[in-house]
Amino acid sequence: MKSGRPTGILDASEPTSPEIRAFQCTTERRSRCRAGGTGGGACYPRLVSRIWRCLALAGLVLALLPGGRAALGNGAGPGPISSAEQQFLERHWRMPIAPQGLAPASFAPLERSLAPRDCGACHPIQYEDWRGSIHARSMGPGIAGQLVEMARRDPAGARACLVCHAPLAEQSSLARTAAGLEANPAFDPALHREGVVCATCHVRGHQRFGPPPRPGAQGLRVRRAQLPHNGATYTGAYERAEFCAACHQFGPSGPSLNGKPLENTYEEWRTSPAARRGLACQNCHMPDRRHRWRGIHDPEMVKSGVRVTLALDRARYRPGQRLRATVTVASVNVGHYFPTYVTPQVVVRAVLLGADGQLIASTEQEGIIGRQVPLDLSREIADTRIPPGGRFVLRYDRGLDGPGLSLRVTVTVYPDHFYTGFFAALLETGAGAGEADIRDALDATRRSPFEIFARDVPLT
Ligand code: HEC
Ligand code: HEC
Ligand code: HEC
Ligand code: HEC
Ligand code: HEC
Repeated sequence: MKSGRPTGILDASEPTSPEIRAFQCTTERRSRCRAGGTGGGACYPRLVSRIWRCLALAGLVLALLPGGRAALGNGAGPGPISSAEQQFLERHWRMPIAPQGLAPASFAPLERSLAPRDCGACHPIQYEDWRGSIHARSMGPGIAGQLVEMARRDPAGARACLVCHAPLAEQSSLARTAAGLEANPAFDPALHREGVVCATCHVRGHQRFGPPPRPGAQGLRVRRAQLPHNGATYTGAYERAEFCAACHQFGPSGPSLNGKPLENTYEEWRTSPAARRGLACQNCHMPDRRHRWRGIHDPEMVKSGVRVTLALDRARYRPGQRLRATVTVASVNVGHYFPTYVTPQVVVRAVLLGADGQLIASTEQEGIIGRQVPLDLSREIADTRIPPGGRFVLRYDRGLDGPGLSLRVTVTVYPDHFYTGFFAALLETGAGAGEADIRDALDATRRSPFEIFARDVPLT
């Protein structure tokens, strides 16, 4: 409970603190970034600074420059986003989020606390959901392992990662003062590790903000001042896709490959059939206002968005005949590219099994769905992601030369494909004090793949 802490030395409105301005990626800076020229220490992996510095800045541009936010409007729900909602979001997502300051004197310790578990004392459903979500793990070993070394060698750079991964001022050990970066008196180490917490989205200056009550909700018939934390201020901005864009869309001047920002989810959504149908991110990722944010790591969520079908040109084959099979992955309920980010990969495989049930390796054919990039993010090798409403087709055409053959078709999702290579490379070059964390993160990426489709079809 951090009431009464000094807040004076923190500039409450620090939207353009120098280290963040430094990240606003001009063309010139970006090329320096690519060349690894902004790296901090001599031996700390250049890879990290190169990739993440480039990645980091872009979101900032979006969050900080009112004009930089990708064209607002065309919002979901009834009608376009209003200018009041738009203004709310511009204030709300000024990053990093300003210190909360002094809580009203009438607040009990539980009402002052920014700890998710304390919110959960009165909001148990949201807390249980959030706890199991990826937002609660956004300061997991993958990022924590990189930040220990970065914090030592390049504190401003490390601080910039927190803008999306742990954006409250109270989550940062450093604060910008007139004298530069100094120890932050409001720092709460426990909160630091909790990632994108409730207060990130709902609390500013100890006031609660949230979506309008559900239609038909009774509401508590008491004055706001008598409610816990003086009730809340409601705005429809919480039901807009633009609410999520703050961290899920890089700005126009941010890092991009082949003309497309590295993180482009909001823009992909804006022109999707889902947006035209009035479905915002929340409709798919927070149905019934649940706080689970299931995505590419969740088999059921992925299956809800795509339909896989297998078609053969005959019901049965004789040895000597040709098999012509088609595997189709159709994106039927994804509000952006499948997948949207550069890091996952989905692999469609077809292979023959012999009479003994063993794979015949020479007959294997693979199709990759993903935005393929090298580890240094220097170029786009290929972009075979499926646009919303589109499809990916693998054609398998092969002579069948014996009896007892079957066809095996699988579709496997590798949610952390890029990171498996990235963390392995980081360990090779030396992850310093972050080594144990990066090892954990690498193991987790190797455990995350799953199949969304698997079928064996007898042929001959
Ligand atoms: C002591 C209990 C208590 C604590 C602790 C508490 N809340 Fe609340 N909160 C409430 C109550 C009761 C309401 C309902 C007010 C109403 O219905 O008008 C509410 C309303 C809200 C709302 C508005 C949406 C709604 O359901 O009306 C949001 C958002 C919210 N709280 C977020 C938080 C967050 C975030 C925290 C922790 C930082 C927190 N609350 C801590 C009791 C609490
Ligand atoms: C303050 C920044 C921030 C905001 C605001 C935010 N997110 Fe996120 N989100 C993140 C970060 C960071 C991650 C990745 C965490 C990790 O993997 O370490 C993430 C992950 C996710 C994932 C999981 C992806 C997966 O890999 O399965 C989904 C889905 C998601 N967010 C949806 C949303 C939606 C919908 C909204 C708006 C209601 C939203 N987010 C708002 C920062 C944010
Ligand atoms: C503009 C917001 C933003 C910034 C700034 C940002 N990230 Fe992320 N990061 C995300 C989002 C969103 C995801 C999840 C991507 C997805 O699944 O769509 C993510 C995912 C990750 C992951 C993979 C998940 C995990 O927990 O292993 C790592 C590692 C990561 N970021 C590291 C960093 C580092 C290091 C920095 C700073 C140099 C940084 N990020 C800056 C938004 C951001
Ligand atoms: C990434 C942003 C984000 C985080 C983190 C987050 N919320 Fe929310 N919350 C939202 C959004 C967006 C909505 C509105 C969803 C909608 O209208 O579909 C919402 C809705 C709510 C509501 C209203 C629910 C209702 O049924 O009317 C409450 C209460 C709430 N959140 C509390 C919390 C608590 C407590 C936590 C932490 C345990 C939390 N939120 C974490 C974005 C967030
Ligand atoms: C029509 C439903 C729908 C809408 C609308 C939607 N999504 Fe998704 N989203 C999905 C499904 C299904 C998945 C799982 C498959 C996938 O990863 O593409 C997913 C996955 C994700 C992921 C996981 C990472 C990845 O690479 O795919 C993130 C992050 C995400 N969505 C964010 C958002 C944001 C932000 C918005 C709004 C701008 C949004 N989504 C709108 C259905 C939707």
